[in-house]
Amino acid sequence: MVVEQRSLRYTIFLAILLLFSSSLSPSAQYVIYNSTAYLPASWTHLDYDSMMTPILRRDNDGPSYVCGFYCNSGGSDGGCLFGVLISQGWLGTGAHLQSSKLVWSANRNNLVQGNATLQLKEDGDLVLANIDGTLIWSSNTRGKSVSGLNLTEMGNLVLFGPNNESIWQSFDHPTDSLLLGQKLATGQKLTASVSESNWSEGRLSLAVGSDGLSAYIESDPPQRYYASSINSYPYYEFRNGSFNDFKIPPASVAQFMKFGPDGHLKVYQWAEVGEFVEVIDLLNLYVGNCGYPMVCGKYGVCSKGQCGCIETTNGQESYFSQIMFRQPDLGCSLITPISCDHSQDHTLLELNNAAYFASDSGSDTIRTVMEDCKSKCLSSCSCKAAVFYHDRNLWDTGDCRVINEVFSIINDENYIGDNTTLLVKVQNANKSRRKTIILASTSGAFFGVVCLIGSCLVFLRRIFKEADEIEGDFLNQVPGIPIRYSYENLQAMTEDFKKRLGEGGFGSVYEGALYNGTKIAVKCLDGFAQLKDSFLAEVQIIGSIHHVNLVKLTGFCFENSHRLLVYEHMANGSLDRWIFGEMRSYSLPWRTRRKIISDIAKGLAYLHEDCSQRIIHFDIKPQNILLDENFNAKVADFGLSKLIDKDQSRVVTRMRGTPGYLAPEWLSSTVTEKVDVYSFGIVMLEILCGRKNFDSSKIEEDRHLLSIFKRKAEEERLEDMVDRKSGDMLIHVGEAVEMMRIAAWCLQGNFNNRPSMSLVVKALEGLVVVAETNLDYDFTNSSTVRTEAAGDQGQVVVYVGSPILPSTLSGPR
Ligand SMILES: *[C@@H]1O[C@H](CO)[C@@H](O)[C@H](O)[C@H]1NC(C)=O
Ligand SMILES: *[C@@H]1O[C@H](CO)[C@@H](O)[C@H](O)[C@H]1NC(C)=O
Ligand SMILES: *[C@@H]1O[C@H](CO)[C@@H](O)[C@H](O)[C@H]1NC(C)=O
Ligand SMILES: *[C@@H]1O[C@H](CO)[C@@H](O)[C@H](O)[C@H]1NC(C)=O
Ligand SMILES: *[C@@H]1O[C@H](CO)[C@@H](O)[C@H](O)[C@H]1NC(C)=O
Ligand SMILES: *[C@@H]1O[C@H](CO)[C@@H](O)[C@H](O)[C@H]1NC(C)=O
Ligand SMILES: *[C@@H]1O[C@H](CO)[C@@H](O)[C@H](O)[C@H]1NC(C)=O
Repeated sequence: MVVEQRSLRYTIFLAILLLFSSSLSPSAQYVIYNSTAYLPASWTHLDYDSMMTPILRRDNDGPSYVCGFYCNSGGSDGGCLFGVLISQGWLGTGAHLQSSKLVWSANRNNLVQGNATLQLKEDGDLVLANIDGTLIWSSNTRGKSVSGLNLTEMGNLVLFGPNNESIWQSFDHPTDSLLLGQKLATGQKLTASVSESNWSEGRLSLAVGSDGLSAYIESDPPQRYYASSINSYPYYEFRNGSFNDFKIPPASVAQFMKFGPDGHLKVYQWAEVGEFVEVIDLLNLYVGNCGYPMVCGKYGVCSKGQCGCIETTNGQESYFSQIMFRQPDLGCSLITPISCDHSQDHTLLELNNAAYFASDSGSDTIRTVMEDCKSKCLSSCSCKAAVFYHDRNLWDTGDCRVINEVFSIINDENYIGDNTTLLVKVQNANKSRRKTIILASTSGAFFGVVCLIGSCLVFLRRIFKEADEIEGDFLNQVPGIPIRYSYENLQAMTEDFKKRLGEGGFGSVYEGALYNGTKIAVKCLDGFAQLKDSFLAEVQIIGSIHHVNLVKLTGFCFENSHRLLVYEHMANGSLDRWIFGEMRSYSLPWRTRRKIISDIAKGLAYLHEDCSQRIIHFDIKPQNILLDENFNAKVADFGLSKLIDKDQSRVVTRMRGTPGYLAPEWLSSTVTEKVDVYSFGIVMLEILCGRKNFDSSKIEEDRHLLSIFKRKAEEERLEDMVDRKSGDMLIHVGEAVEMMRIAAWCLQGNFNNRPSMSLVVKALEGLVVVAETNLDYDFTNSSTVRTEAAGDQGQVVVYVGSPILPSTLSGPR
């Protein structure tokens, strides 16, 4: 069988090689995409549920390009555009297209939905229109004797004339990225997207002007945060190894440069892992981590890479509050907005240990004394702040610069800058003037946060005093903050730890109830007594993570040697009870199983990709998946494994997780979030097959679920594995088998071939189709057979790694 698989791959490879040489008729399995089209031509975005509908393609050994309709995550709901994507090597499979990156687009401010058309019209115009005929974008080349459209070797989309001359090219209309060989000429700019998910043009731009390269945020007037100092060039060109004065690591693989939504200018390069990785952050050396306009949002204070708000010293009420509590990087807002009708109540806060990013030197500063600078800002309502750059020897004299919109503020002693005073305008609600102001120190801030919670509680207590006298009860009315409990308190709530719910990886879990009757789960951590600051820091992080598919941490206890965590109570307990535990006879219906699988995937995708700090769970198994009263699944125990790393007294390299769910790369050194994807694959199989991955009650050859999976896949009888305990499953065998393919994808021995969790979510929604030909059912082998074309001879090199037997990975603990 293995031999047959290999020969299959060999055949596929021959097909690829034939494609390259394009001298023979292609294998019927593959659609051949052209790299050139002649007018008239028209393409419709029919397949609007997929991420990409290719139109032209330029496949190469090195950088490859494709242009077509490309959709924001979530299919056409998120909108689609017409654009050019970069990748490396042959673009043949869907999986490969997944890791392609958008480098140019026609209409990012105006996305289209399904059935949109791209037309290369007889009159020479390239037109993108919605189904109702509304014009979305046009190349404006009408009447310019265009012969066709060419996607070149460099990724340039060119409308060419009768002599192959370029009439219009995408390289002249850059969006937020540059390709090798592409120039950014004087007067041109890259404009960043609003965010990774909102592709519209944002406020940050990188432009080449007569005075060189500069990066700025759109405002009135624009505020620069980077300006090239010495040299001035007519254009900046992205070459192999340089971007004018910037040095870039040269590479023989695909590279592109992108001006990101965060204002960083980064070069990405195709890596062994099969996706683009960042290789250099060009402006950062000059700008510094805190020097980007929106690094901490408006009025946010950036201190050593952490964000906070401007705080007053002596505990008086503050002028600023976080826009989103627990999400400091979204910035701060004025509690009393500045009103031009009450300019007599305007005050300037003097921040002495702060700097402001805007780096314009001469033009809009005036030499004056500090008092003048203040009155200049106070007398103009549009002024929101002023920066005063003190002279070295005459403190009161210096340069004054007025700012009409306040972005992030820098509070970092390492920041290169003169002695500056930042004057920030605020509106006094009452007339009392405040003089002493400091910046909130945001580093190592848990203590500060506790204080903040404290003051918040005092404040709320005032409000709720009459309404509710019971202390513990009103504590629960502060949403989103883990509450600190005393040990005594938790002892009472759990009736001295009477009812044990289970035994987790880090200690036992007990049922308890708050004073108002709400049930809670209290986890007593074993062996973390010596953890102090790191425990609090971790609790802070875990407590700040909110997602419907993650079990919420609502409180904690940190007292002497006691370390306890309080979680929301999940009525239906853990998943293992329902698939192979005491509740298995209630056999979950298909819909519930499918929902549970997709819930877990969403929870993990959030941990891996959407948290401010990527969190790897390390111990995904049914015992750690909890079900609420409606069988919504939530992932439990995330974030805790980090505590082990921080616990210096233990052997850090100890394997974490549970045998049977461990990915094969645990035996090597590289451990990424893909270990969770592997464990998720196992859990998925267990749910679909209704059995444990290792079952010693079965005969030898049926003990390991993965061995059966491999065997059945080879026999093409995966349907035999579907759990048929509930009749409802019988109707859905086909869907269950489809899902098994996704599981197989997650279980790829080589972790590079496993999808990210967000891709899994898409696959489960049917937005992405698993390319069956790429699946390897030899799941425990981390360096599985790989084929690669070598040179032009069409040789096929086969790498075979040493296999790890399943028995070394599975079995009871
Ligand atoms: C490639 O071009 C040929 C000739 O113009 C056309 O018949 C064919 O449909 C094109 N292929 C695709 C995939 O568009
Ligand atoms: C696209 O066209 C197909 C077939 O004509 C139609 O069924 C579908 O509803 C259309 N979709 C949209 C979004 O207009
Ligand atoms: C398309 O671009 C390639 C270079 O990438 C070039 O060799 C080819 O001649 C171009 N075709 C036309 C018709 O201009
Ligand atoms: C244009 O490019 C195509 C493809 O490279 C080539 O076959 C053709 O001869 C070129 N035409 C002219 C006029 O150069
Ligand atoms: C994307 O950002 C633009 C500009 O801020 C905004 O107008 C638009 O509503 C956003 N789109 C979505 C889908 O959030
Ligand atoms: C870039 O330069 C390096 C070394 O200077 C070379 O090995 C590589 O092939 C070049 N890449 C391209 C795409 O020309
Ligand atoms: C600038 O700040 C440094 C460090 O705070 C201080 O030593 C120096 O005296 C200041 N310069 C002036 C001109 O006040």
